[in-house]
This record gives sequence, structure tokens and C-alpha cells, in this order.
Amino acid sequence: MACALPHILFFFLFLLPLSTVAQTNGTVAIGASITATDKAIPWLSPSEDFAFGFKQLQDKDLFLLSIWYYKIPDQTIVWYANLGVPVPSGSKVQLTTNRGLVLSDPQGRGLWNSETILNDVTHGFMNDSGNFVLVRSDSVTLWESFKYPTDTMLPTQIMESGGVLFSRQTETNFSRGRFQLRLLGDGNLVRNTRELATGFCYDAYYWSNTNDADNTSNRGYQVIFNETGYLFVLRRNNRRVHLTPQLEFPTSDYYHRVTLNFDGVLNQYYHPKTATGNSKWTAFWYQPENICVAISGIEGIGACGYNSICTLNDYGRPECSCPEGFSLVDQNDKYGSCKPSFTPSCEEYDRGSAEDVYGILELKDTTWPTSNYEHLRPSSEDMCWKSCLQDCFCAVSIFRDNGCWKKKLPLSNGRKNASVNTKSFMKYRKGDPLPPPTFPRSPVRDTKKNNRTLILVVSVLLGSSLFVNFVLICVFRLGFFLSYHKKFINIPNSDSAAETNLRCFTYKELVEATGGFKEELGRGAFGIVYKGVIQTSGSGNAVAVKKLDGVIQNREKEFRTEVHVIGQTHHKNLLHLIGFCDEGEHRMLVYEFLSNGALSSFLFGDMKPSWSQRSQIALGIARGLLYLHEECSTQIIHCDIKPQNILLDDCYTARIADFGLAKLLMINQSQTNTGIRGTKGYVAPEWFRSKPITAKVDVYSYGVLLLEIISCRKSVGYLEFHSGDEKAILTDWACDCFLKGRLDDLVGDDMEALNDWNKVERFLMVGLWCVQEDPSLRPTMKKVTQMLEGVVEVEVPPCPSQFSFLS
Ligand SMILES: *[C@@H]1O[C@H](CO)[C@@H](O)[C@H](O)[C@H]1NC(C)=O
Ligand SMILES: *[C@@H]1O[C@H](CO)[C@@H](O)[C@H](O)[C@H]1NC(C)=O
Ligand SMILES: *[C@@H]1O[C@H](CO)[C@@H](O)[C@H](O)[C@H]1NC(C)=O
Ligand SMILES: *[C@@H]1O[C@H](CO)[C@@H](O)[C@H](O)[C@H]1NC(C)=O
Ligand SMILES: *[C@@H]1O[C@H](CO)[C@@H](O)[C@H](O)[C@H]1NC(C)=O
Ligand SMILES: *[C@@H]1O[C@H](CO)[C@@H](O)[C@H](O)[C@H]1NC(C)=O
Repeated sequence: MACALPHILFFFLFLLPLSTVAQTNGTVAIGASITATDKAIPWLSPSEDFAFGFKQLQDKDLFLLSIWYYKIPDQTIVWYANLGVPVPSGSKVQLTTNRGLVLSDPQGRGLWNSETILNDVTHGFMNDSGNFVLVRSDSVTLWESFKYPTDTMLPTQIMESGGVLFSRQTETNFSRGRFQLRLLGDGNLVRNTRELATGFCYDAYYWSNTNDADNTSNRGYQVIFNETGYLFVLRRNNRRVHLTPQLEFPTSDYYHRVTLNFDGVLNQYYHPKTATGNSKWTAFWYQPENICVAISGIEGIGACGYNSICTLNDYGRPECSCPEGFSLVDQNDKYGSCKPSFTPSCEEYDRGSAEDVYGILELKDTTWPTSNYEHLRPSSEDMCWKSCLQDCFCAVSIFRDNGCWKKKLPLSNGRKNASVNTKSFMKYRKGDPLPPPTFPRSPVRDTKKNNRTLILVVSVLLGSSLFVNFVLICVFRLGFFLSYHKKFINIPNSDSAAETNLRCFTYKELVEATGGFKEELGRGAFGIVYKGVIQTSGSGNAVAVKKLDGVIQNREKEFRTEVHVIGQTHHKNLLHLIGFCDEGEHRMLVYEFLSNGALSSFLFGDMKPSWSQRSQIALGIARGLLYLHEECSTQIIHCDIKPQNILLDDCYTARIADFGLAKLLMINQSQTNTGIRGTKGYVAPEWFRSKPITAKVDVYSYGVLLLEIISCRKSVGYLEFHSGDEKAILTDWACDCFLKGRLDDLVGDDMEALNDWNKVERFLMVGLWCVQEDPSLRPTMKKVTQMLEGVVEVEVPPCPSQFSFLS
């Protein structure tokens, strides 16, 4: 990368001025045209902030006639013609006097045009504001793209009464989607879902309340996104109803846009104009606060499709997933509807006892507010699930406050909310393969009683050769945990795989999936990870296959127990286990594949992530750990929290990997005394003292990681390369910076972080509490999460004393 840079600079220095010369000053003459090819030159605005032309979609032979940000790497599209339908290469757009812009296919047939009433356009102009205008000789504007918005508004853009924004169908399909924003004639700005085929509008899920039936002068009549980046509804009496909060990022230095996203969330984003390493769009405002609960009409699809369940992610955006026993209707549309794997049939009920055919799964905190057909009251929990099991119409029953609501398909507006305190009982057909569960749920309700497992999983992690001295202590510890473990472990029934919905792969399947273990993704403490693809209902899904090495033979039950424990964990900040292979000496785990790699390369790579991304990631990891420690049915102590074990999904949500694994290895170690691996720099001091090991070891490692996330510096690298330097030990240096009030030393010239001083300081204090030498001084992960969120005060931490064994 470093040596490529001069070449790239050279390239830009010489080519950029040339292309500028080749370009117009924003003016487009009559007769000018662009033909859709991958080398088509767009019409640029004078500042080159915006371009008008054909944008190639996903390297396919598809081109969208659109306007986009020209200078930033994302080249985000802000407007598109032809209702978002892309055209093949060879299509052409031409500026004409009579019909303005005319888009035609390669055969010359007209597809779209910018109809103007007065047929006398003299030229077009790509304005620096992102507005493409068609002008007459007397400078009267005849047509402008700002008047025909798609899903985005830009500063200086105004929406008049009757104006509409349509969401896209998906992030990459620009056709009109399920959501719209409208300024109604009565002055109210609303957002609603719509029926795709007919465009019928369902009930609104947001209102600005700027209507006034009695007083016309008090009605809203324009939605203005003004030059300085404020979005507001203007009433006829000139009063403003502001929608977005105070702006910290001026439009002089930042691009701003307001976009109705494909999932129905309205966001305001900013992006630095001068692209530095980590320039990305940052959402600083979104509405509604929780789209999963905002949409609740009786008719129509909710935030997610029918039968789907909506959860809100850290960015205020919905995530949808099918409940057990359901799968996506369209595998490529995660936000779409889910179909049941069986059609309930009342005839089966006549033939025999329903209990033989159907079972009930309990989903926690999940509810569908509509689709009721029967309400039992009073009801007991048992009565509620049994009643559903024995009723052929019932798909799910919900128990709350001594009431039981029985629901039929399709279920709408499904959502998960821990505070609603409901129990959902979902019917499934026995023997059907269930998809991987998406939410924590209790074991199957059945006539059989299930064994609950209580296992304390502790993994051993110890440093490289530097720590060999401690091997003996560790072996002692392993022995302790093995005996401890034996007392509490309960091997579940052999049919446990069905309960966790993990897929059991054959070795042959995984050889095929990985192309014979060809593409190595990485090497971890437990073995090598390979990339693979598994077939799910026709379409391929990328997976990461972890070949466990050093797993003991003849321990099938232990292996299955561990896998079962991992399979029962479900949290958005954990890496999801899809299945496993347990065939002879082949022990493998199959995980979902995350394309954005590990936090270590993100944090310490060339492109330093933004502070808002970093703080979200820190919070996500804390939540994942909290879940492992306190919220899943079996406590899991990770023991190897470090940036290499945190993966990032498509949304840069942090996902903890490698949890619950170490015990497999530990058993092995006690037999052979070899292969003790671990990660120095993150290890809590009690591993080296004869003190009990608790979940607080993870809190310690998390603290080190948090300090790294704040400063984008490696705790370990500094030890090796800067010994003697005052920054040598990250924890000491961080505390120094804190005491001196020099957060700027810690975060460097990260303006975003410096503008967020209070939060940086709060995170730093939390980090310092976590790395206290005395485990009892360290907060629990619950407290950590609350402190990071700002829900509870953070007291001033004492400086952690240095590891004595290091000096
Ligand atoms: C832009 O350049 C064209 C010639 O390329 C010229 O006719 C036109 O007047 C210029 N417009 C402005 C606004 O400078
Ligand atoms: C470009 O847009 C700005 C802001 O909307 C406006 O003031 C200016 O007149 C526009 N220029 C042209 C040539 O249309
Ligand atoms: C977008 O979605 C619509 C409807 O699902 C489909 O007809 C169209 O082909 C899609 N467009 C692209 C470019 O995939
Ligand atoms: C309408 O509202 C304005 C204030 O916005 C008020 O001054 C005016 O008296 C109202 N007119 C009527 C008819 O209520
Ligand atoms: C944009 O609106 C905000 C909020 O009403 C206001 O403070 C600011 O002055 C406006 N900017 C311009 C250029 O009018
Ligand atoms: C959960 O439900 C409560 C009560 O209905 C509601 O106030 C809250 O906003 C919901 N929270 C989430 C995250 O959905």
C-alpha cells in the first residue's frame, strides 16, 4: 500500500486536471449525450462535488441514470431517473430542446424523459448543490431534479405540499420500495408503508403533527432541508417545526443528506468533504426511534415481512429474522416475509393425537401484536401452550398477565422487546429440519422433561513463550476446573442437536463446501479457519469452517455438549454457529462468514475507523460479554478477549468469536501438557496468582481492548517496540493522559473524538476501572455497559498498578 501511494498520487496529479479540462463548467449543451458503458464520462458540477450520468451497478451490465457524489469513495447515489430501473449498456441519455433529458435503450426506444411544458430548453446545468436543472435562454428554470426527489434530500432542497420520497426496495435495488414519506395537503408530514403492486398507502407510522384543520395559516406547506443542514417543516405563518437536532458538522466542511432508507428509517448523514483515510457516512439522526414497534397497523407488512421478527440494531435500523420453523420466502431478501415449513392441516388433528405430530417452542420476549383470533382469560401458562398445540388453527399463542392470545398466520409486525414480559409459544412440526434459531429461547415444550445444563465454561489462555513460567500454575488450574466442571455438568439427551437446531455436517459435505480446505481465513488458538459455501435452498451461503486441532478423541459427549452450549447462545454481538461436524477424528465448527474481518485489522490498519464507529463497537462487545456472563442459560467466560477475536459484520457490528471453545482444548491440555496458547497483553493478573478465576478476567481483557479502541494503539506492540518509552504500557499511559486531562494525546488529531470529549473521557474511565489489578474493584459487564451507555455515573478511577511480573 505504502509504495503504491506515490503512483496513485502521480496518477491523480496528472489525470485530474486533464479530466477537469475535458469537463464543462457544469453547463451541458443541447445535443450533448452520454452512452452507458463502464467508461462513460459523467457531466460534473463546477466543483466536481456531483456527477450526472450512468452509474454502473455492482459490476453488472446494468446502469442507473443518476446523480451521485463524485469526489468521495462511496460515490453515493442521491437521485435516479426511470423509477430506479437500470438500463443495459449502450443505452443513451441526450439533452434535447423539446423534451429535455431523454433516456433511450440501445435500440433507440424512449424509456424516460424529463417532461417540460415549455419546449425550449437552451442548456442543462449540474449545480454544485446536487441539483440538475434545465434552463431557458432567459435563465428561467424549466425542470430540476430537486423537484422530483427519489429517496434523498440535499441541503437547499425543498419539498412542496404533495411531495413524496420513496424508499428503495433494497440497498441495491433502486425500484420503489415499501416505504414512503409524504407532505400531505393538510400540512402533515407522514411516513407510511405501501402495497407494492398498487401503491396503496397503509396506516402512517410517523406524523409531524404540522396539520391544522381549522387554521390554514398554521398548516405546514414545505419541508425544507436548508443550506446549513437543518430539516424542518415550514408552516404558512413562517413558523418552523424542526425535525433534526442541532448540527455539529457544518455544511461547509461536510456533505449532508437525508435519506429514507429501504428499511423505512429516515436518516440524516454527514461525510467529510475532504476524504481522509476513514471517511464514511455517519448517521447522526434517525426516525422513528424504534421502527420495530412504530409500525403496528392491522393491514400490511410491518418493518419486516410477514411472520418475521424485528429487532433494532445499534444504529436504529431494523434487523429481521424468521422464527424457528420458518424460512425466508426470498432467500435474497432478509427483510422479506417468512414462510412456515409446514402447512397446518386440521385433518392431521382428526387422525391422531396432535402431540405426536406437533411440538411447541418457547420464544422469549417475542410478540406479534396483531393476528389474534381467540383470547383466553383467565389462563395459565400451561393452558396457553397446550391450547395452541391442540388447536389446528393456532400458529402461536402469547401468554401475558393471565391472558392468552391465540394467533393465526400470517403473523405481522413481529418484534422482540425484553420489557414486554410475554411468553410466546410457537407450534412446529416434529421431524422438520428447523433453521438456525435467531433468538434465545427455552427448550422445547413437550411431554418429555428436558435436562437443563449448568456448565461453567472456562478457557485457558496464556501468553506465548514469555509466559512459559506459568504453565505449571495453569495446569493446576485446569485440574481445578475439570473437577469443578464434573460436578455440574449434565449431558443432555442424545436428541439435543434437534433442540439447538444446529446442522450436523458430514466430513464430505465440508470438504466440498471448502473446496478441499483451500482458502484459509486465519489461524486461531484452536485451529485453522477456512472459507466455504454451503447450499441453503438453492442459493449459496458463505461460511467459516473451523477445523479444531488437538481435540481429544473418544470424547464425543463432551464435544457435543460444548457445541450444544455454544449453539444455545444467540445475541447480535456474538458470532453465530451454524453447525458442526463430528466424524471420527474430524471435529469442525461451521460459523457464519463475516466479510469485514477482525477488529484488529480494522483498528490498527491504514484506515482508522471513526470515533462513532469505534464507540459503537466497544459498546457492542460489552453487550455481547454481558450476555455471555449473565444472560445466557449457561455462563460462559470467554478468557481470550482480544481484537483478533472480535469480528465485524456488514454493518460493522462487533461479533465476539471463539467463545465457549476453550474447554475442548483444556481437556486435551490436561492430558498432554502441551499447546498452551494465549495472548499476552490482555491477560488478567489473577491468572498468575493463586486467586480464583471469575468472569472478571474477561472484564480485564475488555478494559485493555477498550483502551485500544479509544486510542487505536496496540497494547502489545507498544510493549515490544517502545519499552522505556512513556507510552510503553498502554494502561499506564492512558491513566497518565487521564490524570493530566490530555485526552488529545490519547486520541491524536481525531476531531470527531475530540468533539465528543465527555464520551471519550467516560469510556476512558470505564477502561481504567476494568484494568484494576484487584478483580473486586473491576465492575461487572452489566455495570460496564451501563456506564458506557451513560445510564450510571462513572467515578474517577484509581490508576491501575503495573503488572509486577512484567518488570
Ligand atoms: C461554460 O462554458 C461554455 C463553453 O464551454 C460557455 O459557453 C458558457 O458560457 C460557460 N458558462 C459559464 C456559466 O461560465
Ligand atoms: C445552484 O444552486 C444554488 C443553491 O440552490 C443556487 O443559489 C444557484 O442559483 C444555482 N445555480 C444555478 C446556475 O442554477
Ligand atoms: C428490483 O426488484 C423488482 C421487484 O422485486 C424486480 O422486478 C427488479 O428486477 C429488481 N431490479 C434489479 C435491478 O434487480
Ligand atoms: C391562526 O393561527 C394564527 C397563529 O398561527 C393566529 O394568529 C390566528 O389568529 C389563527 N386564526 C384563526 C382563525 O384561528
Ligand atoms: C437553517 O435553519 C436553521 C434552523 O432553523 C437556522 O438556524 C439557520 O439559520 C438556517 N440557515 C439558513 C442559511 O437560513
Ligand atoms: C418495549 O416495550 C415498551 C412497552 O411497551 C416500550 O415502551 C419500549 O419502547 C419498547 N422497547 C423496545 C426496545 O422495543
